[in-house]
Amino acid sequence: MAVAPAVTARACANIALVKYWGKRDASLNLPAAGSLSLALGALVTETTVAFDPELANDVIDLDGQPARADAAMRVTAFLDLVRAQTGVQIRARVTSKNEFPTASGLASSASGFAALALAATKAGGLDLAPRELSILARRGSGSAARSVFGGFVRMHAGVASEDAFAEPVETPLAQRVRMVIAVIGGGVPKQYASRDAMEHTARTSPLYRAWLELVPRDLEAAEGALARGDLEQLGTIAEANALAMHATALAARPGLVYWRPATLAVIGQVRGLRECGVAAWATIDAGPHVKVLTSEEDAPTLAMQLRDIDGVTAVTISAPGGPAAVVET
Ligand code: PMV
Repeated sequence: MAVAPAVTARACANIALVKYWGKRDASLNLPAAGSLSLALGALVTETTVAFDPELANDVIDLDGQPARADAAMRVTAFLDLVRAQTGVQIRARVTSKNEFPTASGLASSASGFAALALAATKAGGLDLAPRELSILARRGSGSAARSVFGGFVRMHAGVASEDAFAEPVETPLAQRVRMVIAVIGGGVPKQYASRDAMEHTARTSPLYRAWLELVPRDLEAAEGALARGDLEQLGTIAEANALAMHATALAARPGLVYWRPATLAVIGQVRGLRECGVAAWATIDAGPHVKVLTSEEDAPTLAMQLRDIDGVTAVTISAPGGPAAVVET
């Protein structure tokens, strides 16, 4: 197979409104349940891949620095999957850059592996359909399967070995929503990586079984809300689902506590503003930051209010993002 020159691809991060929290197969990264997310146009990863016969090993550069050993191993393991699919056995040079709010500590594995999947397959001469790309990106990070697509995205848990993929969801809300991201505590790295935390929760939390029963119901209700264009209903489900996910982690033994005082202060402010008629619903991932689903009209007011909270170090308003795409040179 002919090896193409360097290929650059961009992908947006996404925030789950119905969370992925638990795997049914760790080696294939198959989720235990489905999930639903919104792509964020303000959080983008750009990745360039070039297969180079001169290289003895993959050379991986993240945000202008050689990748740390653990990150480099994950990227090489992922490139091995691409090499297996393309038949191109040579090593690659990978350069990846996150265009995220400065020192945010926000997770970039979703956008990172989606951009890597697209750039690496194209550089290897392989043209995957979006669904195949989503299945491949999932192997890097479960949430990366969703970052292949733009706007609202539904991830299917699947039932067989390799049928867990994401697909976009049409909704009249697509242009109206915004996500306000309140970064808490600067760029401190995550206390517990999500893959370890999920495994620990699934193994030890007495609430995990209830979580697995809850997710399909939340997904169905959230999809109904999307179909009707009902932001209030969608936001209500998203906030409740995030709190339920954190409840499972808090009840694990020992419990996983991701929140800081400012996390609670932001949740309190969001609820207070909501009582005053502002469209605002909080969601939190495996970290202290709070992301608030809102409308285009209410996003500036909300952002202004959150900036004043002690411990909030940055606030960004994001519009929905588009699908992963190759950057034409
Ligand atoms: O894709 P991972 O392995 O980083 O897991 C993502 C987990 C959450 O961010 C907490 C939830 C989600 O659905 O994105």
